[in-house]
Amino acid sequence: MSELTYLSHSSFIINHDGHSIIIDPFINGNPTMPVAFDSLKPDFVVLTHAHGDHLGDGIALAKQHNATIIAVNELANYAASKGCKAHNMHIGGSWQFPFGRLKFTIAHHGSAAPDGTYMGSPAGVLLMLDGKTVYHCGDTGLFLDMKLIGELHPVDYMLLPIGDNFTMGIDDGVKAVEFVNPKLAIPMHFNTFPVIKADPGEFKRKVEAIGKHARVMKFGETIPL
Ligand code: NI
Ligand code: MN
Repeated sequence: MSELTYLSHSSFIINHDGHSIIIDPFINGNPTMPVAFDSLKPDFVVLTHAHGDHLGDGIALAKQHNATIIAVNELANYAASKGCKAHNMHIGGSWQFPFGRLKFTIAHHGSAAPDGTYMGSPAGVLLMLDGKTVYHCGDTGLFLDMKLIGELHPVDYMLLPIGDNFTMGIDDGVKAVEFVNPKLAIPMHFNTFPVIKADPGEFKRKVEAIGKHARVMKFGETIPL
């Protein structure tokens, strides 16, 4: 059984093959989060970058469940220094985990701790799960290499930010969908805060206008993969 749950912001849970993988667990302090910290039981925590709305509760969650943090080298080292199990990776590298293969991609953004500590590059992440590929773009602006990502790894589910200001907005997001050419585009990183207010329905209409498919997942909604 494989399923994808959208928590809100950039937080997703993938349950696959008996594993629970949480991506960018921004739980406490997230006004749109539909679930409580205590309800989450991941065995892997995937982090795209160190900003508070992505690293979020990742360290606490990993420690509580003895879950493995998967992140780029600098951020993984930071997690390990806080007592977490960590698997260090970096952009362009992939590794076979018990749930499937995971690869980090580029993302154009920042990734520092609030105190300025260097946490390595921000990233996107590809999860290859028994023939189904999920591409979580992380926080990023639009970039042309998305074409290459889609060409090398035909994407089933593309999870992409559309909230503008810190990342792609709706129109750049539609272009990103054109570049990657996923079977289904799912918007994220919108409406958590006033500064990233966006209409996901407008995104869906614009994606459909270029002949592609989009689905706006509700906060807390689960779909089969
Ligand atoms: Ni960020
Ligand atoms: Mn963010």
